[in-house]
Amino acid sequence: MTAGSLPPEVLTLRGPCPVRGALRVPGDKSVSHRALLLAAQAGGRSEIRGLSSGDDVARTRLAVEQLGATVTDAGDGVLIVDGGRLAEPAALLDHGNSGTGIRLTAGVVAGLDLFAVLTGDEFLRRRPMGRIVAPLREMGARIDGRGGGTLAPLAIRGGGLRGIRYPSPVASAQVKSAILLAGVRASGTTTVVEPTPTRRHTEELLAEFGVEVRTDGNAVTVVPGPLTPTAVRVPGDPSQAAFWVVAGLVAPDSDITVDDLYLGYGRAGFLDVLGQMGAQVEIDRATGTVHASGRSLRGVAIDSTDIASFIDEVPALAVAAAAVPGRTVLTGAAELRVKESDRIATTVAMLRAFGVEAAETPDGMVIEGGGRLRGAVVDSHGDHRIAMSAAVAALRAEGATVVHGWESVSTSYPGFAAELNRLTGGAAGAEVTPARLAPVG
Ligand code: S3P
Repeated sequence: MTAGSLPPEVLTLRGPCPVRGALRVPGDKSVSHRALLLAAQAGGRSEIRGLSSGDDVARTRLAVEQLGATVTDAGDGVLIVDGGRLAEPAALLDHGNSGTGIRLTAGVVAGLDLFAVLTGDEFLRRRPMGRIVAPLREMGARIDGRGGGTLAPLAIRGGGLRGIRYPSPVASAQVKSAILLAGVRASGTTTVVEPTPTRRHTEELLAEFGVEVRTDGNAVTVVPGPLTPTAVRVPGDPSQAAFWVVAGLVAPDSDITVDDLYLGYGRAGFLDVLGQMGAQVEIDRATGTVHASGRSLRGVAIDSTDIASFIDEVPALAVAAAAVPGRTVLTGAAELRVKESDRIATTVAMLRAFGVEAAETPDGMVIEGGGRLRGAVVDSHGDHRIAMSAAVAALRAEGATVVHGWESVSTSYPGFAAELNRLTGGAAGAEVTPARLAPVG
């Protein structure tokens, strides 16, 4: 399988192998999408420093350019965005593998007086869109799509929206954000009430762009108004750091320090889970620095009341759970089934390939940790986080590991394999090669 149109790649490496050193990870993906979408709407010149280098965010950049914003590389990781004069795009907005990209852009487009069609790769076209289409229609957007608007491509005729109060059935920052972004251009205020609060990047960035947002418990209200250009600095992505933190804990004799991470609301839950497992991870919240080195951990029942705060980190956490003695039980995580892959199925399959005893449950998984991991052949199923988690597991496993579908990693972390080689001093022999094509005829 390939992630959309990317040429298929394979990662090979050999464990066990320590990882040691300090690093920075790509700019936060959630912040990056939002910074582009808001700068594109702000009348004037904004500056974004440290944008994510992955394909997902590159697609959002392309989408805002197709909508009429001008985005210029100023060097040194700085982008200049001239926004405010958006117009109907001439072609499809193709979000590739990015659920955040398509859902947030749908919210923006719904608020604009224009027509646009949003789509994505084979994986994205299978993911649920009804969760944003229903509230955006309630606000007055005209949206059609496959399956009555439950699947992309989505054809959106936006504009003329009215504010709503929307009790969201899912704890999803993407749903909340699509509605709030549409609400910026609606008549009257828009309120989203979440079952449990999710990451607050949209609220934080709307405020940076001068829009009034009020949070009251689980309810968030946006007051419509113009966006003012500003300068955004994108901190490092904690979801990408999670792979290295877990590697620092499970690969033998390892020691990892990751700098400059976003550790704000709703994103650092994986550190709490590792804490419950007994990991002694040192965290400096002022600088966003996290330091991890091997300690004796144990399996746990993962407290799922706050699942949204570590939902993307479950595959990496599952590798930690596999490496430590005891049983880890994850519940309340059914949302994992509608991520870039069915992450309950693909995480369990990945662990089992390494010889780990693991089983799916309808809304989570059970992992019997502490056994030996042996090198494995793993399929990413087009999911970057499964691919990178497999690479981390390989650093603890005995023997060679092969990860098929490695190209998916470029959606969020194109430099991961190079960093792996740097932090292992090349000792794992990590190598990315084009997948051999099937013989023809
Ligand atoms: C994101 C929200 C989460 C997360 C995704 C990024 C965001 O998705 O899994 O990777 O930036 O808002 P859901 O809102 O679907 O839970």
